[in-house]
Amino acid sequence: MRVALITVFPEMLSAVRDVGVTGRAVRDGRLVLDAVNPRDFTHDRHRSVDGRPYGGGPGMVMRPEPLAAAIKRGREIAGATAPVIYLSPQGERLTDQRARTLAEGEGMVLLAGRYEGVDERLLSEAVDQELSIGDYVLSGGELAALVVVDAVTRLLPGVLGHEDSAAEDSFADGLLDCPHYTRPEVYEGQVVPEVLRSGDHAAISRWRLQQSLGRTWERRPDLLEARGPLSDEERGLLDEYISDREEKGAKDGT
Ligand code: ADE
Repeated sequence: MRVALITVFPEMLSAVRDVGVTGRAVRDGRLVLDAVNPRDFTHDRHRSVDGRPYGGGPGMVMRPEPLAAAIKRGREIAGATAPVIYLSPQGERLTDQRARTLAEGEGMVLLAGRYEGVDERLLSEAVDQELSIGDYVLSGGELAALVVVDAVTRLLPGVLGHEDSAAEDSFADGLLDCPHYTRPEVYEGQVVPEVLRSGDHAAISRWRLQQSLGRTWERRPDLLEARGPLSDEERGLLDEYISDREEKGAKDGT
């Protein structure tokens, strides 16, 4: 995967390029992550990439010409078929499914805006897709772009070892992840659930699926709804989770 990030703060890339799973992907050559600075495509003394907004108002707007030249350079890095993606709160929401689709491509050109935004004509001429990472406003698109790079990179073949396979992650099956435990067996009076110590792999799988279903039902009912009808086994596990929870609630007096 070849990624070009168009940004006036190229130093921000190090958060993804140098550490952890994504850093290893860079070192292994599975991820190429390069910054392209639109200031390098300006021709004035101040290397200015922004201008005052037509119509007045506060803030500055990013000018189209340096960005167009930076995107052209980005396409050379990421490949001719790489989509150009602008990060903004106005974009479609980044989801697991969108990350998987991007991971199937050869690369991406990510455009991180600063100031009040980017001249609309540049967006209509040069941008294929607009993505948001959530309903809140960041000071610039860089952190959002790095979120996209991280979420996509962990889905690339060979990036995660068998032990931390993406197939087990939250959302892989449209459900939230189950709880995890490690040593010690008792911590602050709380014991690791017995089934996880039983060595019964079928029972452990059933318990994990039940926890995933239960948590999704409690915390993100919208995901359960979107996933469609439950199988008979899933329905049985979720019903049992709900009645256990009600029983426990009755015992606790809640
Ligand atoms: N830029 C500023 N806020 C953003 C958001 N929520 N998602 C993507 N890009 C952004």
